Amino acid sequence: MSEAPKKYEGPERVFSGVQPSGSMHLGNYLGALKKFANLQHEHECIYCIVDLHAVTVWQDPKVLPIQTREIASAYLASGVDPKKAIIYPQSKVAAHTELAWYFNCVARVGWLARMTQFKDKSGKNAEAMSVGLYDYPVLQAADILAFKATHVPVGEDQKQHLELSRDIAQKFNNDFNASGFFPLPEPLIKGPGARIMSLRDGTKKMSKSDPSDNSRINLTDDADLIAKKIRKAKTDAGVVPASEKELEGRPEVKNLVGIYGALSDSSEQQVLDQFSGQGFGVFKPALAELAVEKLRPITASMNEYLDNPNEVDKILSKGAEDASAIATPILSEVRKIMGFWGA
Ligand code: AMP
Ligand code: TRP
Repeated sequence: MSEAPKKYEGPERVFSGVQPSGSMHLGNYLGALKKFANLQHEHECIYCIVDLHAVTVWQDPKVLPIQTREIASAYLASGVDPKKAIIYPQSKVAAHTELAWYFNCVARVGWLARMTQFKDKSGKNAEAMSVGLYDYPVLQAADILAFKATHVPVGEDQKQHLELSRDIAQKFNNDFNASGFFPLPEPLIKGPGARIMSLRDGTKKMSKSDPSDNSRINLTDDADLIAKKIRKAKTDAGVVPASEKELEGRPEVKNLVGIYGALSDSSEQQVLDQFSGQGFGVFKPALAELAVEKLRPITASMNEYLDNPNEVDKILSKGAEDASAIATPILSEVRKIMGFWGA
């Protein structure tokens, strides 16, 4: 009889990352950053700025370090405390690329072929994309597992990548007779902000890469611009309905109600109870006021950090040291398990 597989028995640890490839928006804040700050009080948390992922599509070398500091500033401004959580750039910790190579030899081509994000990003042009873009989810698995992270706060769009990380962890454990070595990381997706949609099209997610700036609220937008974007947001000729069921088939209205709920920590139904029967001439200004109230302190704090790049750089250097100190022994174990000479 074969032995029952051992369960992972290490400590709980949270890991997540955001790419420094454009400005941060309300979707990033509600889907990821807000959760990052909440988790640090009860968990060991590691928050990475995933610059190696960003360069899977060309990044201007002059802009990349600036955008890296910008994401770090957004983490800090959203309440991530560098005394509680580790904040660092991915490219400063060699464990990511090393483990990604080992995982390249564990993951199967067929697994990557199913990844919908690659298909969406490459469109009809898959042949012309970088190999790195195709391999992106394997590096993501390495990010998480280089720290044996057990929990990963992300937006809904990362669900499939997290499933792949679990498959890779499981196959590594099986292939090398190392059951229980890597945890099977759990995504933390639930919550009202998990999928914020474009302000121009309620069927598309709010995204850094949308060519229309009016489709998103950036964390760097000032109060007037936020109000203008919400005023211009697409809705329909109806009013705010009374029940969640009546939001079906009205994706733009559902999205605005969802944003109001996520910003005010209330449920969709509570928002409907407050506004049902009102036209958008009433609801939109209330939403704009709430968004400005919640985002203004974050924008202000982010701007302070952006004005003090040396302070941010210190935090990132220290974070990289702390992150390396955790990942280095894990990578030594991996080399031993795989049987490399001298390990
Ligand atoms: P990215 O901007 O793709 O680097 O994403 C950074 C984090 O924000 C990830 O956890 C995403 O899942 C999350 N995220 C990105 N866009 C959205 C959105 N429209 N709604 C909710 N979460 C999002
Ligand atoms: N792929 C994620 C995104 O686009 C970013 C990311 C890279 C990530 N490595 C990660 C998220 C590890 C969580 C854990 O949003």
